Amino acid sequence: MAFMKKYLLPVLGIILAYYFYSANEEFRPEMLQGKKVIVTGASKGIGREMAYHLAKMGAHVAVTARSEEGLKKVVSHCLELGAASAHYVAGTMENMTFAEQFVAKAGKLMGGLDMLILNHITSTPVDLFSDDIQLVRRIMEVNFLSYVVLSVAALPMLKQSNGSIVVVSSMAGEWGQDQRGG
Ligand SMILES: NC(=O)c1ccc[n+]([C@@H]2O[C@H](COP(=O)([O-])OP(=O)(O)OC[C@H]3O[C@@H](n4cnc5c(N)ncnc54)[C@H](OP(=O)(O)O)[C@@H]3O)[C@@H](O)[C@H]2O)c1
Ligand SMILES: *[C@@H]1O[C@H](CO)[C@@H](O)[C@H](O)[C@H]1NC(C)=O
Ligand SMILES: *[C@@H]1O[C@H](CO)[C@@H](O)[C@H](O)[C@H]1NC(C)=O
Repeated sequence: MAFMKKYLLPVLGIILAYYFYSANEEFRPEMLQGKKVIVTGASKGIGREMAYHLAKMGAHVAVTARSEEGLKKVVSHCLELGAASAHYVAGTMENMTFAEQFVAKAGKLMGGLDMLILNHITSTPVDLFSDDIQLVRRIMEVNFLSYVVLSVAALPMLKQSNGSIVVVSSMAGEWGQDQRGG
C-alpha cells in the first residue's frame, strides 16, 4: 500500500509532534506508553495503521468502525504488537447516540482518555452535490457532525488528563485542536 508510506508517516509525525508540542520536548516513543487513545475508522487504512503504531509504543487503544470482523483482527494484532490494552466497539457514526456512547464506553474500558484521534470518513461519491439530499445529509453526519459529538463527549475526560483531539482530515493536511490546560 503505497499511500501508507506517502501519507501515514507524515500524518503520524504531525500528530505526535502536535501532541507533544506544548511539552517542548523531543519526541520519544516511550511518551505514548500507557497513554489511553481512541482511534475512529480503525478497521482499515490509515486508522488501522495508527492503531498499530500506538500499540507498538505501548499505548492503550480503543478502536471503532462498522466492521466487527475488521476490528477484531486489529485488536488481536495490537495486542501482539505490545498494546497495554486493546478494545473495540463496532457501530456506525451515522448514529450520534452510538458516537456518544462509544466515547463513554471506551473511557470506561481504558480508565480515562489521553487522545481522541478522529479519522473515520465515509466514501464520498464523485458527484457529491447531486440532488440526493439524503446522501448529502448522511455524508455530513458521518464526516462532520459525528466529529463534534465525539469531541464534546470526550472533553471532560480530556480535560482531566490534559489530553488532545486530533483530526485526520480529508483535506491536504491535518489540523488538531489542543485541549491542553483547558
Ligand atoms: N488515503 C489517503 O490517501 C488519505 C490521504 C490524506 C488524508 N486521508 C484521510 O485519512 C482518513 C482515513 O482515510 P483512509 O484512506 O484510511 O480511509 P478508509 O481506508 O476508507 O477507512 C475509513 C475508515 O472509516 C470507517 N468508516 C467508514 N464509514 C463509517 C461509518 N459510517 N461509521 C463508522 N466508521 C466508518 C471504515 O470502517 P468500516 O467500513 O468498517 O466502517 C474505515 O475504518 C480520512 O480522514 C481521510 O480523509 C487519507
Ligand atoms: C444507535 O445507537 C444506539 C447505541 O448504540 C442504539 O441503542 C440504537 O439502537 C441505534 N439506533 C439505530 C437507529 O440503529
Ligand atoms: C494539566 O495542566 C495543568 C496546567 O498546565 C496542570 O496544572 C495540571 O497538573 C495538569 N494535569 C495533569 C493531570 O497533568
